[in-house]
Amino acid sequence: MLIVRNLTKYYRTVQALDNVSFSVADGEIVGLLGPNGAGKTTTLRAITGIIKLTEGEVEIDGFSLAKDEQEVKRRLAYVPEVPNPFEMLTVIEHIRFIAMAYNTMSGFDERSERLLHRFDLYERRNDLVLTLSKGMKQKLAIICAFIHDARTILFDEPLIGIDPKGARELKDMIIEAKENGCSVLISTHMLDTAERLCDRIIILRSGQKIAEGTLAELQERARLTQDATLEDMFLTLTAEGSASESTGLPGL
Ligand SMILES: Nc1ncnc2c1ncn2[C@@H]1O[C@H](COP(=O)(O)OP(=O)(O)OP(=O)(O)O)[C@@H](O)[C@H]1O
Ligand SMILES: [Mg+2]
Repeated sequence: MLIVRNLTKYYRTVQALDNVSFSVADGEIVGLLGPNGAGKTTTLRAITGIIKLTEGEVEIDGFSLAKDEQEVKRRLAYVPEVPNPFEMLTVIEHIRFIAMAYNTMSGFDERSERLLHRFDLYERRNDLVLTLSKGMKQKLAIICAFIHDARTILFDEPLIGIDPKGARELKDMIIEAKENGCSVLISTHMLDTAERLCDRIIILRSGQKIAEGTLAELQERARLTQDATLEDMFLTLTAEGSASESTGLPGL
């Protein structure tokens, strides 16, 4: 289970996050939505500890990032917006390196082979990462996220640049992770995917959480009818002078 409390982040004078709190339960997929610059990547990077929060707390399975960084990182996998792999390793060396770093080498050969086949990288396993295409590097980052036994998985725009088969595999794997009790947080602009995949949606705007709930709850919040899509809600809720501001609804 992932819990974040009062996340606040300033980059010098720019406030990227303003007191954002939410949780992702075991076996839950939560979508993190918001316009460009809303603070999605900052939220994910803060959870991993890559960037230091100005204020706020991150907790995974009862361990605090501030106090038990190792325990938090052991339970966490993160697929970044722009993968930055070690280019001078081969694909299989890279995957092995990640598995070793997480001390999860048992069953490595079988697990890595299965993942390489699922993401069509098996034939490229002995090639240098340097020689992979952009989408292949994204797939490698996804394989690395699934190679160890993470309980909380963070994805930043995971479907951008991935071919349809890879996207299908990834969605299937996210659902499998949920069924295995993992907490999954996905930042995405793909509203139709979020609508189909996520149990709950969080919408950020200008560093603030402006809405949170199931699709049905958001429809109600946005005062839209039952057949309104997530896109209708997103555009209503993130518009200047949105429903939340004009109605003064709490929690929006
Ligand atoms: N390293 C940085 N230095 C200064 N400001 C930053 C830095 N990274 C992000 N920001 C600012 O913080 C705010 C939130 O950025 P963030 O990358 O979290 O947005 P995002 O929701 O992920 O956007 P996108 O949909 O474009 O990926 C923006 O105003 C951005 O300009
Ligand atoms: Mg981003």
